[in-house]
Amino acid sequence: MSYYALVPAAGGGARMGAGRPKQYLPLLERPLIWHTLATLCAVPAVARVFVVLAPDDAEWERYDWSAFAGRLEILRCGGATRADSVGNGLKALLGRVAAEDWMLVHDAARACLTVAQVETLIAALGDDAVGGLLAQPVADTLKRADGAGRSEGTVSRENLWQAQTPQMFRHGLLLSALASAPAVTDEAGAVEALGLKPQLVAADATNLKVTYPLDLHLAEIILRDRKQS
Ligand code: C5P
Repeated sequence: MSYYALVPAAGGGARMGAGRPKQYLPLLERPLIWHTLATLCAVPAVARVFVVLAPDDAEWERYDWSAFAGRLEILRCGGATRADSVGNGLKALLGRVAAEDWMLVHDAARACLTVAQVETLIAALGDDAVGGLLAQPVADTLKRADGAGRSEGTVSRENLWQAQTPQMFRHGLLLSALASAPAVTDEAGAVEALGLKPQLVAADATNLKVTYPLDLHLAEIILRDRKQS
């Protein structure tokens, strides 16, 4: 049984409003995704890191990926949604990856992931029958809006978690889960739709997803702080 990372990086990053896919925005003098891949390639247990790019991605070739030679492989099979990109990546690996092998699906945009967080996930899941994901218990009080920006109620945060990535499932299970629930926003959602219960493994807020311009500044602060300590 092996572990592989699969990084969907075929999104346009429209919410970022930067005019180019957010995975290529500069972060400490590298494209953002470089930091993501550096972490995944540094996890000894992970045999190979696959990156799913949009078929017409013209940015990838502009950068130097030689630091990851032999550890990294690109798959130009991104789809219209994140779930499509992940599903296409899983299909592209049929025959190369066994149904029982673990796939760690990780957002390109979570550039502050650490090796320790990945290893915590792998150790916590062990040989779990379902799989699981990094996540964080919700800390804030939650409000439900009425559509006009007014709060019409408070939602109990008890038992609520924010899903992060990596999300770790076996290749065969994940492929069939995504085929039967293609409209999900994460892998765990597809597995839950099969009636299974992915394990929630506690992570922390530093594993943020860069979505809005401010997130890029936060990511820079986190990475810079780590370099200095
Ligand atoms: O847009 P969002 O932040 O939810 O995207 C999460 C991850 O999924 C990003 O790494 C993005 O590149 C990827 N994605 C993808 N294919 C899409 C849409 C998003 O690989 N069609």
